[in-house]
Amino acid sequence: MTKKTKEFDHWIRNEFVMLNDTLEGMYREQADPANVVGVGEEVKQQLLLEGQKYIEALLKEGNTDEGFDNAFDLLGNVGLYMAACRRHELTEPSIERHSPLKEASALAMHIGSSIGVTPRFSTAHLTTHNTSINGTYKRFTSDPAEKLFIDYNTRGILAYKRAAEALLKVLPLGISHPMTPVLLEEVKRALVDVINSNQALFKQLDTASFFYVVRPYYKPYRVGKEVYRGANAGDFAGINVIDMMLGLCQANDVDYAQILVEKLLYMMPEDQATLKECMRLPNLLDAFLAAQTHRHESWYQEALKVFLQACKLHGDTAIQHHNQLVEKYICGPAKNLANQHLDKVTASGPPLQVLLSQLETLRDKRAAAKRADLDTRYDDLKVLRQSLIKSEVHHASE
Ligand code: HEM
Repeated sequence: MTKKTKEFDHWIRNEFVMLNDTLEGMYREQADPANVVGVGEEVKQQLLLEGQKYIEALLKEGNTDEGFDNAFDLLGNVGLYMAACRRHELTEPSIERHSPLKEASALAMHIGSSIGVTPRFSTAHLTTHNTSINGTYKRFTSDPAEKLFIDYNTRGILAYKRAAEALLKVLPLGISHPMTPVLLEEVKRALVDVINSNQALFKQLDTASFFYVVRPYYKPYRVGKEVYRGANAGDFAGINVIDMMLGLCQANDVDYAQILVEKLLYMMPEDQATLKECMRLPNLLDAFLAAQTHRHESWYQEALKVFLQACKLHGDTAIQHHNQLVEKYICGPAKNLANQHLDKVTASGPPLQVLLSQLETLRDKRAAAKRADLDTRYDDLKVLRQSLIKSEVHHASE
């Protein structure tokens, strides 16, 4: 890390947080706390100019060849600054054609294109790749709701990644290998961790704090002339590895392929490579369907039982995300909001209805729901379920 990079990082971890906190306090005191226009102008200018001073110096230094980790980290810091400017409406992509943050845009584009990611801050910057110093990792504000949100996003992502890693290990072994049920049990444990973590977040996170203090920092913003959508906890490969390795979603399905194409550059390069690799691999659901001549073998019965349980749990995480988290924190506030602030509800940009229907599509594919208008694995899973010999049921009734 160069001296200038370190100084900027220090500012992001300290003064930047204090300035955001001060502004959040001012917004909160208003009759309409969703309004930020005309509030705290001096503080906003301080944030704008101080950040700009560090970024100008870094741009002049022009040296991003400090290794991938440092470059990625610096991109995150520039991104946090740009996202905060967006949150305080120092920039407003819908009325601008270029970002007024010229130096920040130049630095972000330089780094983003040189390391092969979108030139904005992404989920990894705040979750899995966010170094903690003396117990505190980078955040926008010191509001406890933000820490809670990031903690549980990180927990969820790490658990999904554990499930994905275990699934990838099944491939070279095959479904009849005695270690396959062992690995699938690991997948199940990781997915149960996702469910428990999401449940804890759902219980503890206050809706108003999430809506007013957390979500606004995740809005789309412009870098140069392009608008980049907000970060979300799904921007890592693991979730899609699970979808595709289980066989619940397929890369040659038009709805799902669209999602993969769109999110690829929001991921870390190592995740991009994993995702691309995974798109070429066969899946477990097809492997079980192709093994019907072995349906009476004990290996088939044992592996299929755990496989079906893993599929069910994956569907449950998606149902929980949509029916609990999205419903409580996105749909709920949207219903009570003046139209002028509706744009603040979604992070990714599209209108709420479009966003919700995309998330429903994902939920129903993951849960293999029966849907006339959408390809899901409902029928195929039914075939597999019917091939399961319910030995335990017999034992229980004996
Ligand atoms: C307050 C909690 C949460 C809310 C309100 C929420 C809401 C959303 C929304 C609205 C999206 C669509 C993109 C966008 O942001 O515009 C999304 C995407 C996503 N979120 Fe969450 N989320 C929450 C927490 C989590 C957590 C803890 C995880 C676990 C890792 C997670 C996993 C995902 C995934 C994987 C996606 C990408 C779409 C997909 O593949 O399903 N979310 N979330």
